[in-house]
Amino acid sequence: MNRNRIESCACGLVLVLAVSVSPGWCQHPEPTTLTIHANQPGARINPAMWGIFFEDINFGADGGLYGELIKNRSFDFPDALMGWGTYAKAGGDGFARVEQDEPVSPQNVKFLRLSSRNSRGFGVTNEGFRGIGVKRGEKYQLSFYGRHLAGKDLSLRVELLGVGDRVLASTRFKKFGQDWQKFSAVLSSSATEAKARLAISIEGAGTLDLDFISLFPEKTWKNRPGGLRADMVQMLADLKPGFLRFPGGCIVEGHYLTNRYQWKTTIGSPEERKLIMNRWNDEFKHRRAPDYYQSFGLGFFEYFQLCEDIGAEPLPIINCGMACQFNSSELAPLDQLDPYVQDALDLIEFANGSASSVWGAKRAALGHRAPFNLKMLGVGNEQWGPQYIERYALFSEALKARYPEIQLVSSAGPDPADDRFHFAWGKLRELKADIVDEHCYAAPQWFLDNARRYDNYDRRGPKVFMGEYAAQSVATCSPTNRNNLECALAEAAYMTGMERNADVVRLSSYAPLFAHSDAWQWTPDLIWCDNLRIYGTANYYAQQLFSRNRGDVVLPVTLRGASKGDPSAITSSLFASAVKDEKANEIIIKVVNPYLTALPCRLELAGLSGTSRKSRITVLAGTSKADENTFENPLNVAPKTLTQKLNSSFQHTFPPLSATVFRIPVR
Ligand code: AHR
Repeated sequence: MNRNRIESCACGLVLVLAVSVSPGWCQHPEPTTLTIHANQPGARINPAMWGIFFEDINFGADGGLYGELIKNRSFDFPDALMGWGTYAKAGGDGFARVEQDEPVSPQNVKFLRLSSRNSRGFGVTNEGFRGIGVKRGEKYQLSFYGRHLAGKDLSLRVELLGVGDRVLASTRFKKFGQDWQKFSAVLSSSATEAKARLAISIEGAGTLDLDFISLFPEKTWKNRPGGLRADMVQMLADLKPGFLRFPGGCIVEGHYLTNRYQWKTTIGSPEERKLIMNRWNDEFKHRRAPDYYQSFGLGFFEYFQLCEDIGAEPLPIINCGMACQFNSSELAPLDQLDPYVQDALDLIEFANGSASSVWGAKRAALGHRAPFNLKMLGVGNEQWGPQYIERYALFSEALKARYPEIQLVSSAGPDPADDRFHFAWGKLRELKADIVDEHCYAAPQWFLDNARRYDNYDRRGPKVFMGEYAAQSVATCSPTNRNNLECALAEAAYMTGMERNADVVRLSSYAPLFAHSDAWQWTPDLIWCDNLRIYGTANYYAQQLFSRNRGDVVLPVTLRGASKGDPSAITSSLFASAVKDEKANEIIIKVVNPYLTALPCRLELAGLSGTSRKSRITVLAGTSKADENTFENPLNVAPKTLTQKLNSSFQHTFPPLSATVFRIPVR
């Protein structure tokens, strides 16, 4: 493709020339010139521009961010003992079955009836989420509900078991009454194990009922009891994200409307949150996860709290009366949409209403009297077609009438350029929608080819939320996709295009966010974890280059290259953008060289005087397109920063396969 031409964007502020390099030019490199028009500030950048897309996919919530270590803690999976096995000490005998009479919670009606025939010890073990990760010397908060049914002088032993059933921690409970009562204890693990189990056994002849058997690390994020996994939240915080979109993703929609995401069932005490099947449980026949459910322990209150913790604007997505269009495509009839709209209205009140409002009072009762300051709401996830537009119009009318200040995010379907996309955009323009959510999972080359996609976007219509995107090294939904450097750089190149057009592209997020290495459905993903470890991918660090170097205002750039060779023999090009961070008083330049050739370049800061400035140069680079991070080598592809004095005009050679960020002080 010949990139050897100047293109100007519709707003007339940004001139971008992706520069071609002919083979002759490679032999006698003649520098490209990148001019940063520091004296011509353009659009203001949305402070929330670079954000996070969270979905409970790949064990993202249960088994991931939600710190609970016990799978099927309430025995409410359809296969009620899934995750549990029987456990007998030598000579022990008894039975374990599930009952429903007089449960702890009417929302989660099943519980365990455990019976032992003698004093040797009979019980159950829980396998956790593909094992229970415990660390030596760390404490774990155990709790459960219990009641006595039959037998005398029973005691209940609870043990953490490591490899070969080595006991890592142990405690014992006595004195069970006839009514449900909550018990708790702290277990301190004597060893580090990624796949420990929890064993619970009765000693004595008799029967106990048990429910909500729960184990959390004491060291959760902010040490909140029953809280989130600290290392996972830290990875999010380290991105300094502008927003957090939650809870998805297709799980907003559900296979059918009955298992759509309903935020009201996700607040209050965990026991009252009705568990449902996660739609990723059986979505991919090649990556089934039959033990994947949503306990909603991570619910809407926790999502808002998380946003506050990490300084991200909340962006909840609400079901708009449509089940997933890749599944049943079930629709709530238009004349029965009121409960869905009401859920959206109530959500805004829950987030922003005063503590004397109905839903604001519920937020206050949960411990957050101050509003969460919600500014955006997504209507539907990845919907398309006339059915979506009809429903969006009804939602928009009702929401804008009551809350005109809330920006609504609407959907343009799953593809960035197909008929569904163009239909949606046409209609949403007519409806004067605020922000349109675009999705793109495509080959790395697509991202390079489309890095100037927004240069000529219509400035008068709705704004863009690039809400889901990720370069796919093999093919979308292929289980062999990799989070490699080639993909990360393609995304970074594309992000320079979003940044240059920050007047149109107001929000952007990579998707999906998390994956558990033993339990994923979808790859690639931004962050990988197992029960003990975590690492950010090359893509994570590409995102971080932008989110931590956001800036406040776009600076136009012009990239010129003199190709003296055959213009059709083009091999590579640079991608660039620039912004100004007003608080730090620095010019930030981002340049991506996704190719295997080093590219020399002259950088000119137009409008700045020539004195030298101590600047920071951060480079994300590797030696092969296939470079990746792993648990063993988590920083193989990670940014490195050096300081260097730079004049307002300087020469720089961009290494092969690199993304470079300059932070140059302005005096
Ligand atoms: O990110 C994975 C899935 O891709 C999301 O759930 C959905 O919105 C899209 O199809």
